[in-house]
Amino acid sequence: MERASFDQAELPVWHAPERARNDDRTNPLDLGESRLGIIVSALSHALDLSTGQPVGHSVRACLLGMRMAEEIGLSDETRTDLFYALLLKDCGCSANASTLFHALGSDELKAKHDVKITDLTNFGRETLEYVLTHVGRGKSFLERCRLLVRLALRQKRHSWEVTKIRCERGATMARLMGLGSATAAGILALDEHWDGRGLPDGLRGDKIPLFSRIMLLAQTIEVFRAAGGGRSWLDVVRKRKGTWFEPDLVKACESLEKRGALWRGAEGNAAFETVLTMEPRPRRLERGLRGFDAICLAFSQIVDAKSPFTFNHSLGVANAAVAIGQTLGMPAERTIFLRQAALLHDLGKLSVSNSILEKPGKLDATEWAAMRRHPFYTWKILNAIPGFGEMSNVAASHHEKLDGSGYFRGLTGEKLPREARILVVADIYDALTAKRPYRDSLPRERVFDILKKDAPHAIDAECVAALDEADVDSSQQFVDLDILLTRLRSFQSSAAPIHLDRVSPG
Ligand SMILES: [Fe+2]
Ligand SMILES: [Fe+2]
Repeated sequence: MERASFDQAELPVWHAPERARNDDRTNPLDLGESRLGIIVSALSHALDLSTGQPVGHSVRACLLGMRMAEEIGLSDETRTDLFYALLLKDCGCSANASTLFHALGSDELKAKHDVKITDLTNFGRETLEYVLTHVGRGKSFLERCRLLVRLALRQKRHSWEVTKIRCERGATMARLMGLGSATAAGILALDEHWDGRGLPDGLRGDKIPLFSRIMLLAQTIEVFRAAGGGRSWLDVVRKRKGTWFEPDLVKACESLEKRGALWRGAEGNAAFETVLTMEPRPRRLERGLRGFDAICLAFSQIVDAKSPFTFNHSLGVANAAVAIGQTLGMPAERTIFLRQAALLHDLGKLSVSNSILEKPGKLDATEWAAMRRHPFYTWKILNAIPGFGEMSNVAASHHEKLDGSGYFRGLTGEKLPREARILVVADIYDALTAKRPYRDSLPRERVFDILKKDAPHAIDAECVAALDEADVDSSQQFVDLDILLTRLRSFQSSAAPIHLDRVSPG
C-alpha cells in the first residue's frame, strides 16, 4: 500500500521523454548491447537541471550542433566526437555552483539560466540588469550593497574563475567517461568568443576549437528560442556574428533555417529520438560494465561537486552500500548494480539551488518541497533509459521509509526491495558522518544510535546491523580523481573479469 506522505502535486511536470520500456533484463547490468548515446542523452537531462535550463536543452543543442556539422561537411568520425561534446558541454557546471552562490548571495540556478541569455562581455544595460536582478536577491539593502561592492571589485577575476572551473572540470569529466580528446577540448573552450573576448583564455578565431565554436552557437540558439520563442534567436545570432560567433557558422545556420531544416524533429519529446539518429557511428558502452561504471563515477562527481558539504557523498554512499551488500552475502553482480545505483542516487539534486543545499538554518516549506523533489528527478532521468527501470526505482527510493513516511512516493516496506533498503541506510549513514551547513559531522557511536532508533519501523534493521558489522573505513570515502583515473585505466588495460575489489574505490 502506498501512503502519500508527500503531496504529489508538488511534483513538477516532466517535459522530457518517457522512454522506459518493460524490458528490464534479469541482470540489468548486462549493458554490453547498450548504446552510449542513449545513456548520455538521458543523463544530459541532469546537466540541464544543473544549469537551470528546461529539461531537454542539451539534447536540443546537440541536435542543432549536429545539423551545423553536417551542413559544413564534417566527417562521420569528427561528428561522433562532437555528438558527445554537445551532450556533455555542461558537465562542469555543477563545480562552480557553490562559488557562484556565495558571490551572488542568491539562487545560482536562476543566475545560471539568465547568464546564457545575457551578454556580459560589455558593461552596459544588460550587465547592470543582470547584476541587479541576481546579486543579493531577497537580502537586506545593506547586505545587497556589500555584495555588489565586493562583486564590482572582483568582477573580472570572478567571471574568469567561475568559467575556468566550469570548463576545466567539464573537460576532466569527459575524459573520465572515456570520451575522446577532441570532445574534452571542445568542452574546455566552450566560452571562448570569435573576437577573442571570451573566457577563460581569450582565444580568437580559428584558435578556438571548431567543436567549441559550434557548441557556443548551438547552445545560444537553443536558450534564446526557449526563452523568446519563434525566430527571436535569429536576431541575437546575427547581432553577435563576428563577435561571439564565427561568421561562416552563422551563415550555415541561416541556410539551414531558410530551408526549414535546422529545427526538424526538435519539438518536444521528438528531440530525444531525433538526436539519436544523428550520431554517425553509434558507440556501445566500452566493455559493458566497466564503461558504465566510468559514466556512473563521473556523474557521481558531477553531483558531489555541487556543494562542499556533499563532496564525495555519492561515493561515500556507494562504499557503505557495497559494504552492507557484501556483509549480507549479496552476489557480486548485484553488489555492483547496487554500487552504481548508489553513485547515481542523487542525480536529481542538481535541480536544487545551493541557496537551499548550503542554508545554515531550517528550510522553509518551499525549500523543503524543492529538496523533496530531487529523487523524483533521479527517477525520471534514469527511467528514460531502456532497461533501467529497476535501477531508476532503486536509486530514487533512497529517501523512502518502511513505514511510508519517506519521499517521494511514500512507499512502504513491501514495495522496497533489499537494494533500496540498503541504499536508504547507506545514505543516512554517509549524511550523518559528513559535515553539514547546520551541524558538524557526528561520531560513529552517535550515528549508530540514530540509525538503530529508526530501525526496524522506518529503516531496515538487518541493513543497519550489516553496516555496523562491516565497519566502513572512513578513509575509503575519499578517492582522488587522479587515483580514480589510474584505476580506470588499469581496469581498461586488463582483460580479466571484473571483481568487486577492483571496481569498488575503497
Ligand atoms: Fe538524496
Ligand atoms: Fe544522498
